[in-house]
Parts: sequence; structure tokens; C-alpha cells
Amino acid sequence: MNGSPLLLDRAEVDDRSEFRDAVLAGLEQRPRAIPAKFLYDSRGSALFDAICELPEYYLTRTETEILRRAASEIAAKAGPGCALVEYGSGSSVKSRLLIEAMRDLVAYVPVDISRQHLDATANRLRRDYPALRVEPVCADYMTFDRLPVDLSAARRRVGFFPGSTIGNLTPAEGTAFLRRARGLLGGSGAMVLGVDLKKDPRRLHDAYNDAAGVTAQFTLNLLRRMNRELDANFDLSAFAHEAFYNPVEGRIEIYFRSLKPQTVTVAGRSFAFAEGERVHTEYSYKYDDAGIALLARNADFAIAETWTDPARQFAVVYLVASP
Ligand code: TRP
Repeated sequence: MNGSPLLLDRAEVDDRSEFRDAVLAGLEQRPRAIPAKFLYDSRGSALFDAICELPEYYLTRTETEILRRAASEIAAKAGPGCALVEYGSGSSVKSRLLIEAMRDLVAYVPVDISRQHLDATANRLRRDYPALRVEPVCADYMTFDRLPVDLSAARRRVGFFPGSTIGNLTPAEGTAFLRRARGLLGGSGAMVLGVDLKKDPRRLHDAYNDAAGVTAQFTLNLLRRMNRELDANFDLSAFAHEAFYNPVEGRIEIYFRSLKPQTVTVAGRSFAFAEGERVHTEYSYKYDDAGIALLARNADFAIAETWTDPARQFAVVYLVASP
């Protein structure tokens, strides 16, 4: 099942050594942390899709509803002949709302780190929109700064970064991301950004601690991935998912925690865990209006419009490049 390394292609070998280097460095440092992007292998991406359907996880449902209402206004603001560049496209459910509203799109460019997810998504979109030019790009959106596809036919490049994925970056990283995106989208560019808003901490807590335990499976899938790809021996029953809201920092913090003192081998190296010791996997920052405005301004964008749901749980903002 593990397959011989000889059967891996070049990209997989590179991916695997990137994963190994990041995990070893992350377990070496204190506090321990593993970059969140490694949560999204194909099983992780499928589990994340399941999270989006959970009753406690209001984000996806709320954002989709906002986009459903705002899509024609977004299309009108963007104007005709745009290219739509989606960062971290996943299964592209929400992008369909924009694709359908922006009828004369020159191209749709989904950018995602999971090759399998990306190809499956591109194929479904090509089947459903035969006239649409779909140009998938397999890349990490944090370092992606040059388009490998020709978009010179587009009047305007519109970025799309939904799912409050901006919240999974620190504010400094979020600013750097937006600056890079602004560079790629150009002076006539725009960005449609989905942002989860600050709210009742209990509501936030529940969204990352679902009763069915899907979020826990998602976090622990990282251990499974290390076992499979890095020859690790994590006992999945001896670690637990942990997520809580930190009101001072305005963020959900996500970890896996060792339930007992234990030693784990990863890629031939030994790591001792104390009982209760945590490894950080992800943040999910929550914003208010002032925070969003600051983020935009620091990246040379201006907010042209904000849409929210009636309960103000989530915001979709339309940013335009400042001169
Ligand atoms: N962008 C999502 C969010 O911040 C990512 C996410 C949802 C997530 N649930 C998670 C990340 C659980 C890690 C663990 O809500």
C-alpha cells in the first residue's frame, strides 16, 4: 500500500522531502508546530469538504448564501471580459456562483496545493461549462506570484479567496499574501475576499469542535499522513484534537495533543512527547470591519463594497487595487 519510492514521480519525491523537512523542523522547535498546508492531502481535502457540511460549521453555508445574493453585483463591479483567479480552490463550489454570474469570463484559474483535488475540480468544471477556459495551477498560494498561463485577453484579473482562508494566515502573512496577489492581479485588479467575523466565542468554539468529530479526524489525519509518508509511528488513539478561541489574539488555535508521555519515530528520528504537550497546526483569525480595512490598506487595496449576512457572522468584501 505504501508503494515503492521508485514508483513516485519527481513532483511526489519533492513534495515528500518538503513534507519531511517541514515536519522534522517543526517537531524540533519549541513550541512545536507543523504548517497547516500539510493537512490537505487528498484525504484531508475530502475531510475538509465534510467539515463544510457540518451543522456547527456555519462559515461555508453563510458565505455561500452571501455570494448567492451578491454574485450579480460582483459581476457588475468587475465588468466584462475578466479572468477569475481562485486561491486555494478546493472543490470550487462557491466559484460556480461567480462563474455563472460573470458570464463572459475569459478564463477561470483555480490554484490549489492538492494536485488530485485540482484535477478533479478542473474536469468537473470543464464538463459543466464546456465554453469556459479552465487553467488549473498546482501551487502553494503563499508563494505563488507568477501566472504560468497567458491572461492577456482579460480586461481585468479578479482574485477570489473565499472560506476565510485569509484567517489561517497571521495578519502579517495575510498582508504579505494580499500584496503578492495585488502584484499578480495588476493595477486594474480586484479581489473578492471571504472573512469570518468576530462573534460569540461559544459559536466560534463549536465550529471547530463538532459533535461528530470530523474536525478531530481532520487534525489527526496529519498524523496518519506522517505515518504513511514519513514512516512515522504515531498512535492515533494517544493524541487528541484541540481547538479553542483565544480572545486576546482574536483567533481559534488548533493543535494535536499528546494524551500520555510517549516517544514517536518520524523519518528515523525520535521525538519525546510529555503528557499534554501540543503541536500547533493552524490558526483561524477572526476579523471585524476595522481589521479588514487595515488588512486591505496595508496591502494597497481599498474596500469597494462589503456584503454580510443578517446576523453579521461572515463578510464578503470586494477590494480594488489602490493606485
Ligand atoms: N479556513 C477554514 C477556517 O479557518 C479552515 C478550517 C476549518 C480548519 N476547520 C478547520 C483548519 C479545522 C483546521 C482545522 O475555518
